[in-house]
Amino acid sequence: MSNPTSRPARKAVIPVAGMGTRFLPATKAVPKELLPVVDRPALQYIVEEAARAGLPEVLMVTGRNKAAIEDFFDRTPELEAALEKKGDAGRLAAVQESTDVAQVHFVRQGEARGLGHAVLQAAAFVGDEPFAVLLGDDLIDARDHLLEQMLAVQAEHGGSVIALLDVGMENIDKYGAVAIDPASSGGDVVAVTGLVEKPPVAEAPSSLAIIGRYVLAPEIFDVLRETAPGRGNEIQLTDALATLVERGEPVHGVVFGGRRYDTGDKLDYLKAVIRLAAERDDLGPSLRGWLREFVTELPAEGASPS
Ligand code: UTP
Repeated sequence: MSNPTSRPARKAVIPVAGMGTRFLPATKAVPKELLPVVDRPALQYIVEEAARAGLPEVLMVTGRNKAAIEDFFDRTPELEAALEKKGDAGRLAAVQESTDVAQVHFVRQGEARGLGHAVLQAAAFVGDEPFAVLLGDDLIDARDHLLEQMLAVQAEHGGSVIALLDVGMENIDKYGAVAIDPASSGGDVVAVTGLVEKPPVAEAPSSLAIIGRYVLAPEIFDVLRETAPGRGNEIQLTDALATLVERGEPVHGVVFGGRRYDTGDKLDYLKAVIRLAAERDDLGPSLRGWLREFVTELPAEGASPS
């Protein structure tokens, strides 16, 4: 059993091998993780988050049609030389930052057989220590220190830690849902007593949904090897975590109250772009002015736009 004295997590795994069907047709040729949020791919924010949390060793689990991701995190000597020649220091720094932020490694999933299967591809890279998983389409605002808090909870309690968001009962059937020990409810750290992937609303154990950050004990790999395909015929990480709980391994949840965007979902993606751009020093003033005007001109819901 993992215990609080085991080594703290040092490595991050980012699965990016999913098909991105919700964002078709854009994702026919562009991985959804590279869709720009203002001027950077969603994935760059996520790699930066891992580095900020003290996890500079990153493994991306990629698949077919995802070669552009490897290119993005590679050096671009010709582009850098051209920017240097032009004296464009600002853009040169932006280009270099995107590759220098972390040591990025890649492994292929081969076939998109589910998030659990994607995580299993990281077993050799991770070895026998706890590790973080950050979903490549789940953006957490840089001002909210969710991953840091999860790493601290894992260091204190051992076992595994998952990020939770109260999405309301009416939305829980789109997520993995958890049951928690009532004695631990109320605070933002809860003891998880059960997990189920996308339950019907009437059967959901709570309105707490699993979102895309995990700090996992290495025991998850043995469990994943034995986990049969579940919901959607995919090997589900939620099912493997449920097995860990059944075996008495500690699984804690950190209930998140900050800003989070699912950039694989069209509406959430648009919200992320608008909000982050509106808060930037360079774009914010002009965008906010335009947004105010735009909103006053919006027709009432149901009326046809002019
Ligand atoms: P999603 O279910 O959001 O990804 O998986 P998806 O399947 O690409 O999305 P849609 O529903 O078809 O639009 C969450 C994360 O897990 C990765 C995805 O890339 C995403 O970052 N994933 C999912 C894998 O790496 N492999 C898989 O087999 C499935």
